[in-house]
Amino acid sequence: MEKVLVTGGTGYIGSHTVVELQNAGYEVIILDNLSNSTIESVTRIERITGVKPHFENIDCLDYVSMDRMFASYGNISAIIHFAASKAVGESVKKPIHYYRNNVNGLMNILELMPLHGVENIVFSSSCTVYGQPDVLPVNENAPTKPATSPYGNTKQICEEIIRDLVHSGESKIKSIVLRYFNPIGAHPSAEIGELPIGVPNNLVPYITQTAIGLREKLMVYGDDYDTPDGSCIRDYINVVDLAKAHVIAVNRMLNKKLDEDIEYFNIGTGKGMSVLELVNLFQKATGVELPYEIVGRRDGDIVKVWADPTKANKVLGWKAETSMEDTLKSAWEWEKKIHAKEGAAAKRARAREASKQ
Ligand code: WQD
Repeated sequence: MEKVLVTGGTGYIGSHTVVELQNAGYEVIILDNLSNSTIESVTRIERITGVKPHFENIDCLDYVSMDRMFASYGNISAIIHFAASKAVGESVKKPIHYYRNNVNGLMNILELMPLHGVENIVFSSSCTVYGQPDVLPVNENAPTKPATSPYGNTKQICEEIIRDLVHSGESKIKSIVLRYFNPIGAHPSAEIGELPIGVPNNLVPYITQTAIGLREKLMVYGDDYDTPDGSCIRDYINVVDLAKAHVIAVNRMLNKKLDEDIEYFNIGTGKGMSVLELVNLFQKATGVELPYEIVGRRDGDIVKVWADPTKANKVLGWKAETSMEDTLKSAWEWEKKIHAKEGAAAKRARAREASKQ
């Protein structure tokens, strides 16, 4: 059975990808420092697939422990590197943490790969590398723009490090870079999903926490943008569809099908949806009324971005399949499930926190 190492594998996108890798017959090793996720994800993954992934509680910044881990497992066929800090707002306040964690963590991985005969890495990147594109929908040839946050800059820097290493001729490493748009939703089993710590930055978890009563109302950050209804537009991609793109990328590398030693793919639906459209669709899909208020714009928000997924559709043979209604329903089912699990004390604690809003 081919082994795949998934760094950040107990996280939101990582855990969904582990499930799809196991479904595809891969043996999975999760490496995670649990700084933004819980070990419970491993049990939840097992409940879905019936197979418990290997788990190594290691930080990508811990070169020696990672070296030992690679040696202990022997022939790892590919790595999917998710492990990184990813809160845009937090990165503005803690740039050094973001550069050290995201960039040094990747470099440790890249240095260790040839020492242990690992040649394939799928890198978790982001549409933030495009900034506000000049042309929409945005394809992989669009120029990257100066990042609007240290988080986005680390994604650009990491892409460039991998590109330069692959082109150095000194390394057998090959890479597929997946640029995600806005991942949302949860596994249909409601066993895994997004678990934001504290007040969610992202739209959909904030919506579901408002719908369940944890938050008083959703603040819509601006309706005076140059869009049909004035609110920002994004390309929201179902997290399971996104996870499946990673399995296809690993298959492509192991079957040595790459056209280039490094390939880039936009992983999005190709359809833009505004914040207000999403809010209305959530209410329609779930039947839950969502209190919201239009407030001022959020710093750093770009106005509109959605993918041209033609290359991923044609070259990877991947396409987003899940409807937005089903995706929003899955996010709601997950929110209800995690609340069902919480005891009364946790509910009271969340309500106290929400009242501070
Ligand atoms: C979406 C829209 C907000 C919250 C995300 C990730 C980032 C990167 C790119 C992975 C915006 C609006 C939000 C709220 C709101 N992904 N909004 N009220 O900013 O596109 O960035 O995708 O690398 O890591 O964060 O996503 O969900 O924060 O915002 O009105 O309470 O929803 O203004 O227009 P964003 P988001």
